[in-house]
Amino acid sequence: MGSSHLSSSVAEGRAFMQVIDGKSLDSLSGNRVEVVCPSDGRVFASFPASGEADVDSAVQAARRAFNDGPWSRMPAVERGRLITRLGQLVAENAEELAALESRDTGKPVRQGKADVAATMRYFEFYGGAADKVHGDTIPFLEGYTALTLREPHGVVGSIIPWNYPLQILARVAGAALAMGNTLVAKPAEDASLTAIRMAELALEAGFPPGTFNVVTGYGSEAGAALAAHPMVDYITFTGSPATGTAIQQAAALNNRGVTMELGGKSPQIVFADADIDAALPVLVSAIIQNGGQTCSAGSRVLIQRPVYDRVAAALAKRFSEISAGPHYADLDLGALINPRQRSRVEGFVHDAEEKGTPVLARGRVDADAPAAGFYHAPVLFGPVDAASMLAQEEVFGPVLCLFPFEDEAEAISLANGTEYGLVAGIWTRDGARQHRLAKRVRAGQVFVNGYGAGGGIELPFGGFRKSGHGREKGFEALLGMSTTKTVVFNHG
Ligand code: NAI
Ligand code: MG
Repeated sequence: MGSSHLSSSVAEGRAFMQVIDGKSLDSLSGNRVEVVCPSDGRVFASFPASGEADVDSAVQAARRAFNDGPWSRMPAVERGRLITRLGQLVAENAEELAALESRDTGKPVRQGKADVAATMRYFEFYGGAADKVHGDTIPFLEGYTALTLREPHGVVGSIIPWNYPLQILARVAGAALAMGNTLVAKPAEDASLTAIRMAELALEAGFPPGTFNVVTGYGSEAGAALAAHPMVDYITFTGSPATGTAIQQAAALNNRGVTMELGGKSPQIVFADADIDAALPVLVSAIIQNGGQTCSAGSRVLIQRPVYDRVAAALAKRFSEISAGPHYADLDLGALINPRQRSRVEGFVHDAEEKGTPVLARGRVDADAPAAGFYHAPVLFGPVDAASMLAQEEVFGPVLCLFPFEDEAEAISLANGTEYGLVAGIWTRDGARQHRLAKRVRAGQVFVNGYGAGGGIELPFGGFRKSGHGREKGFEALLGMSTTKTVVFNHG
């Protein structure tokens, strides 16, 4: 009850500031973004709408902190301790952060809490890892010693989406800061509040000014300025492929490296020999979690013919019992992030219905949900034409598509039959088949008899093809957030 009350009142009327060079600042123009709660469509707070000049001052601060500040000379263990301390502050403020995340994004409070727990884990993991990344010595010519140093890129610019703002900022910041980079993060205009709070907590933890900057504003203004800034050394982005292209084009003009995490159309493949009772709840939660607004959502279920009807019927039963409601009611899913996202989901659903795609079930929007909220009931379609827009494009909503298949070859071809390749789930008891499919399915993460939509901070994560490139999470992110410098000594 306490947390439900907090999540409907937290930050009411608060004018948030961004964090640049250790200071809480408004935008130079004084322009602000109004914060709308997706659960009721009501404005409850505001934050700065920054432009090029604000971004420039943040990047300059990050540059100074990297070049001259204590940060670049701080021993790795000390950097790690600061990151660990930030994780502790996140834990101390867990209730508030979870409530804020839920109110800002419309996600059920339960999900907000899970996001805070993952955020703490990121800082715990990267705080402990900071002093455990090291280079090699390389056998070379007689009279020489050759070695490699892991060097930070410098100033990392990071553009964060609205679906998991806390988690995604923590995964970028944890790895970037552990390796000695400084950071300028630009959260999404739809969900910037917890990023601001995290930057405030970083100051409290004792990060030197300019190390952890959060500049807020619209993508087309603050985001574009950050992506194009010549003093940014490396860029990370999570979001849509189209915006990823724009950011890569901006980075290319400065010849900067990028990590891109661009979503997916991730399949779960259910063979006739699978433990179907174990699979069913996972098939549902992989698409319903966060209202389907998850890059790694399991949005396609491929089912072997002999069990197709049985699995489809069981999923339909479950789907018809799912309800969407306000974040504080903590139902199966919340509202979608904004009216545009809801129209996008409606567009996919209408198009599929018009083309005669069978609707197997619909969930419901709770009768008590505020009428002005951005709700969309879950929809289950099947069988879906594998060439259709619904089968090929990321909906980013609570819409699940079913596809029957005959044999392993067809399963693989359907699984790999989109432009994306982020995550896959394989459900079968046949051990040899588990191994064959794990190799042949093109996805950055493959789960066998399970599925982790966004889970597992230890696990390297990223895409093939349109899902992006570069890897985040786990130890591998530390390599992505640094580069090799080779040093050769000629000592005769
Ligand atoms: P988006 O990709 O445009 O926004 C993500 C971030 O990029 C935000 O911080 C935004 O301010 C920033 N941004 C936007 N335009 C920019 C630009 N020109 N330069 C630099 N930064 C820019 O996503 P949007 O419009 O919010 O959602 C549209 C679709 O994108 C969704 O329907 C969904 O399919 C996909 N999406 C996927 C995500 C994922 O995790 N894979 C996350 C968010 C959206
Ligand atoms: Mg919001």
